[in-house]
Amino acid sequence: MAAPSEATPPQAGQTAGSASAAPATGIPVAGPSQGLRTVVAGVSHEYRGGGRTTHALGPIDLTIEPGEFVVIVGPSGCGKSTLLSLLAGFTQPSTGEVSVDGARITGPDPRRGIVFQQPNLYPWYSVRENVALGPRLRGAKKAERQRIADEHLELVGLTDFADAKPYELSGGMQQRTQIARVLANDPQLMLLDEPFGALDAMTRERLQDELHRIWRGSGKSAVFITHSVDEAVYLGTRVLVMSPRPGQIVFDRRPPFGDEPRTLALRGTPEFAAFAADVRAHITG
Ligand SMILES: Nc1ncnc2c1ncn2[C@@H]1O[C@H](COP(=O)(O)OP(=O)(O)OP(=O)(O)O)[C@@H](O)[C@H]1O
Ligand SMILES: [Mg+2]
Repeated sequence: MAAPSEATPPQAGQTAGSASAAPATGIPVAGPSQGLRTVVAGVSHEYRGGGRTTHALGPIDLTIEPGEFVVIVGPSGCGKSTLLSLLAGFTQPSTGEVSVDGARITGPDPRRGIVFQQPNLYPWYSVRENVALGPRLRGAKKAERQRIADEHLELVGLTDFADAKPYELSGGMQQRTQIARVLANDPQLMLLDEPFGALDAMTRERLQDELHRIWRGSGKSAVFITHSVDEAVYLGTRVLVMSPRPGQIVFDRRPPFGDEPRTLALRGTPEFAAFAADVRAHITG
């Protein structure tokens, strides 16, 4: 049995919200797919090497339900990327267990797709070939993987750049390509490590809206890391705050907006400001 979490329990009772507020973009939205239940139980992580041991994370207990959009904020070095790496299966925890639908995670799996802070596209492949990589590794035939790639490039608004090379894209377009590449694997859990951190404010807000629209109604779960409290409150159906290293969850609540569409007006509401202030009050270090 895992140790009890010190986190504030999530608040129940989400409202579906006013779907009529959705901006009409004309771009298709991913169809529903079945989500995964991810459980982090009594997890701590230490890095060892060079005669040094760094207690990076934990102990942490966390359950991510299918369809949740969990956003994590916390001071630099508190273990956020470490937690994402454990969820991806790149790293095994020193203590405790991470499981998906009851099965322990022992390595990476395309059902859990990760978007890194810096785009890591293959420079010698076209944008389409980068997005088609997952289907290609799964053995999809050329026509099929091109169809999948083009469908996802349309989803992120990059149809016109399918034949371009990554260096011909702006930073925001490279991040959209990375998101399309992850989505092309139809992941049930999307892991995003400060994906918009290096972008200008306007591009960032546009990509937040795009990501939210793609996620909404898809049934996919997301874990999104950011240093921006506003981004956390805007995107999250649930916001977590981590303490300084070794990071523990000190705040775990649901903003009152549920999965309703995100609009510019939402950022100006008193509810938004109040929730953001509450998150900020829990960030230390
Ligand atoms: N591969 C590694 N080997 C040794 N120590 C590491 C390694 N990766 C991370 N650490 C240490 O673990 C701690 C947590 O690092 P992590 O990258 O998870 O933090 P973070 O919360 O993502 O920080 P940031 O917000 O700056 O990205 C830090 O003290 C870091 O030095
Ligand atoms: Mg990090």
